[in-house]
Amino acid sequence: MAFPGTGKIWMNGSLVDWNDAKIHVASHVVHYGSGVFEGARCYDTSRGPAVFRLGPHMRRLIDSARIYRMDSPFDQATLERAVLDLIQTNEFRACYIRPLIYRGYDSLGVNPLPCPVDVAIMLWEWPAYFTKEAVEEGLDVKISTWARMAPNTLPAMAKSVANYANSQLIKMEAMADGYAEGIALDTSGNLSEGSGQNIFVVRDEIIYTPPIANSVLAGITRDSVLAIARDLGFEVREQALPRETLYIADEVFFVGTAVEVTPIRSVDKIRVGRGRRGPMTEAIQQRFFDIVRGDAPDTHGWLQPVTAATTAASTAR
Ligand SMILES: Cc1ncc(COP(=O)(O)O)c(C=O)c1O
Repeated sequence: MAFPGTGKIWMNGSLVDWNDAKIHVASHVVHYGSGVFEGARCYDTSRGPAVFRLGPHMRRLIDSARIYRMDSPFDQATLERAVLDLIQTNEFRACYIRPLIYRGYDSLGVNPLPCPVDVAIMLWEWPAYFTKEAVEEGLDVKISTWARMAPNTLPAMAKSVANYANSQLIKMEAMADGYAEGIALDTSGNLSEGSGQNIFVVRDEIIYTPPIANSVLAGITRDSVLAIARDLGFEVREQALPRETLYIADEVFFVGTAVEVTPIRSVDKIRVGRGRRGPMTEAIQQRFFDIVRGDAPDTHGWLQPVTAATTAASTAR
């Protein structure tokens, strides 16, 4: 089924109808992957629509562009306002938010610098990434035969479209082998992350996650889950983890904007803990959903109300 359109797309400061939001096939990004992007969510909270951690998402977008020597023609505050205004224009209460900075149409050499830096923001309704059963029961996953990018190859901290060639290999292999998702190691064999999610492991009531030096995206949900875990009084350690940590874990779970907090019940057909969502995963998942739905106090200031869009730039963290 073709992707359904959703109203207006923001392109370089103009609102364009979904069907007219086109770029030339000679655009640099199409040939050489010269684009960076974000994925954020607007939630329909009990106090109205609100974007979860808009500021950090847009900061990461600008950082990703900077790593690739792209000067965004729009600053972070302008892009944040554009997101909030676009949600209002399209009358979404909840949606997925996809800002994109990319090299446009000029010349087709590998050198990207002559090409313009273009910016687009699109929104769509993205329901749960995995089934409700998976969110409650857990996923069956495998360790991918594909490693994440080695340091000094493609920068993992930049959310570049090029990195998602690697993600696609991980995802397709996992699905071809009958699994919901794949977990990639880094090139040293340490645990890294999923195709589009960070990973957490629980053993003896301590929560572990790989540090960003293990070729992981510095996930904003990862950062939020670290804070939630500490708020709940759990001990948290960011440290390199060998592959076999997964096989002896009490609990394992994925986190990310798309997957939110999703338990894993088996890895390489080895049962994780009791083979279903564990109690610490459930506590973190519950607190996460309570916050994003507006049912728990937003003590960290993570929710940016959409209605404030035209009067104030985002200050949410
Ligand atoms: C490779 C990868 N790792 C981790 C994440 C999770 O990051 P975030 O929580 O900021 O969405 C994502 C999602 O964008 C991702 O694509």
